[in-house]
Amino acid sequence: MLADEFGREVSGVRVSLTDRCNFDCVYCHNEGLGDTRGPMDPQDDEMTADEVVRFLEVVEEFGVEKVKFTGGEPMLRQDLEEIIRRTPDSMEVSMTTNGTFLPGRAEGLVDAGLERVNVSQDAMDPEEFAAVTKSGAYDRVMEGVQAALDAGLDPVKLNMVVFEKTAGYVPEMVEHVAENPGLQLQLIEYMPELTGKAEWAIDIDRVHNWLAEQAVEIEHREMHDRKRYWIGGTADDDGGMVEIVDPVENPTFCANCHRVRVTHDGYLKGCLNRNDDLKSMGEMTRDEIRETFRETVAQRVPFYGEYMVREGDGEWELNDEYVELAD
Ligand code: 5AD
Repeated sequence: MLADEFGREVSGVRVSLTDRCNFDCVYCHNEGLGDTRGPMDPQDDEMTADEVVRFLEVVEEFGVEKVKFTGGEPMLRQDLEEIIRRTPDSMEVSMTTNGTFLPGRAEGLVDAGLERVNVSQDAMDPEEFAAVTKSGAYDRVMEGVQAALDAGLDPVKLNMVVFEKTAGYVPEMVEHVAENPGLQLQLIEYMPELTGKAEWAIDIDRVHNWLAEQAVEIEHREMHDRKRYWIGGTADDDGGMVEIVDPVENPTFCANCHRVRVTHDGYLKGCLNRNDDLKSMGEMTRDEIRETFRETVAQRVPFYGEYMVREGDGEWELNDEYVELAD
């Protein structure tokens, strides 16, 4: 496995297959590229299935074990099943989706080799859901989650971005996963870095504390610096698992980052929060992919704690070493 100068091995890749999306979530960081939402039709700049597969075959040589397909909305790609089918067998395949297109397609995706799925579901309430996603249909997403469960995807994780507008729905969502076997909840701290709306952020420690009070068991996974809480278990039922992802201003989170991202148009990206490290894989020949991947890994640096450093007054500032890159 390739490792960066900070000893972080790259074990996974997160591949955006398109930046098109049929939702317009108010918080969306669009994989760090800002709001580039445009036409819904296939775009010329998207990597072809052949290119995606070639990329995966090359990084398999470097010991990459996991791939997560994302977007935009990855299910807008009609060749998603083909891409998954052609993904190297050694890799664990998962996907992050808004869930709309899972009814009717979930089984085919499982047949193709999809193992796990994350479905964005930010509220239990149709009206709030509509307000957050702007174009999302709540009922359709609920059907999508059910389709994923029926197709045997395991686990089905619900991604909930916790910010001002959704924080009040945390208890309901926790209860929901506790009552529904097969579902897990991933509470994602709202990341204001790329969206500009700092005022939407909430104090994630309050969520940790509240969950700790509810939990029958708590596990701290050092590898990802993530805490897992088990809620509402009974003697014959494990209850629900709730995980908090809290990357904001968190050097420990960055120190445990093991993934490289790929943009829909074939750029490698070593850090979600940076756009000064994008590297094109050009024509995507195997050699070019190999070379660009090596360079990207070699130049990866932890965002909090290295790229950004805390000054005496507690404020985060760009480390002088990286000023030229950022310009
Ligand atoms: N902060 C935190 N999580 C976000 N996501 C998208 N934008 C943000 C943000 N600003 C998450 C959503 C989605 C996944 C692809 O990224 O949970 O499911």
